[in-house]
Amino acid sequence: PRHVLAIDIGGTKLAVGIVSSRGEIADSARTPTHVEFGPDVVLSRIVGLSRDLLRRHPVAVDMIGVGCGGPLDTGRGLVKNPPNLPGWNDYPLVQHLQDALGLRVALDNDANAAALAEFHFGAGRGTRHMVYFTISTGIGGGLILNGDLYRGKFGNAGEIGHVQVEYDGEPCNCGGRGCLEHYASGTGIARRARKLAERYPDSLLNTLAEHSGEITAHTVKAALEANDSATVDFWAETIEMLAAGVASVVHAFDPERVVIGGGISKFGDLLFEPLRSRVKARTMPPLMEGVDIVPASCADDVGVLGAAAVALGGQTMVVS
Ligand code: BGC
Ligand code: NA
Ligand code: ZN
Repeated sequence: PRHVLAIDIGGTKLAVGIVSSRGEIADSARTPTHVEFGPDVVLSRIVGLSRDLLRRHPVAVDMIGVGCGGPLDTGRGLVKNPPNLPGWNDYPLVQHLQDALGLRVALDNDANAAALAEFHFGAGRGTRHMVYFTISTGIGGGLILNGDLYRGKFGNAGEIGHVQVEYDGEPCNCGGRGCLEHYASGTGIARRARKLAERYPDSLLNTLAEHSGEITAHTVKAALEANDSATVDFWAETIEMLAAGVASVVHAFDPERVVIGGGISKFGDLLFEPLRSRVKARTMPPLMEGVDIVPASCADDVGVLGAAAVALGGQTMVVS
């Protein structure tokens, strides 16, 4: 089989792998990043990790695939100004990677890449119409329509974290208002939970927060598991917002399956059970007929597998 170098760039971590065209990961490496690193630091870490991997695995690697938070201009190989990667402003990522590593580079949105991974290797197998959501630092999405990833004109189709669930809502980092991501991404949930803990100092959520010194989505999950009443109400509201987002996307694309990945998908039944029933309640019946909302199955490999699928698909490659 062919082998490609796969690079997944997230707001808080970076992963690089060598992957076969059968979706087998020969080797991979990851490292935490920070939004404040900026593109040059992230690039030098990618190049370092990649050179190490390529040295350790002398298989013929013929191409590089990259998944990166958007918005992007995939035709020009640019990372525009992602809400979760401040300071990248039109960064010519493809050119820099080609120059440093000497291989052709295909760039796509991180969630588009993950959607491809789930479609080819995971929970979307066997479908032709699939919507993928990642609920992580941000909320991203990928649309598989008629058996193909739908990319739009610059590769930005499926930016479904910026579906606006509140028309006059709070400003989002993207410049829009009332975006689903602002309220219901991992960072959105943590931000809202901090306010909740202040408002309910006697809640278990606040006690847990005082113990650990911070509130993250994990704190929310722990409080939920213990049935903390303030957190239960807060979670019902979060589910309602996610359901509004998912229902909007189902109405737009009439998918066979909705696959949900990202860190928040690890809430498991606490997420999937209420979400299924609330999406159903908000969607015109024929559209939800036979549709299931299922967890992603590529787990922590999704980023690397997705980036590999981007290279193997090759549809957005830039040749210098
Ligand atoms: C970005 C998307 C990305 C998602 C997950 C969002 O803020 O707009 O492009 O897919 O975060 O990283
Ligand atoms: Na996308
Ligand atoms: Zn937004």
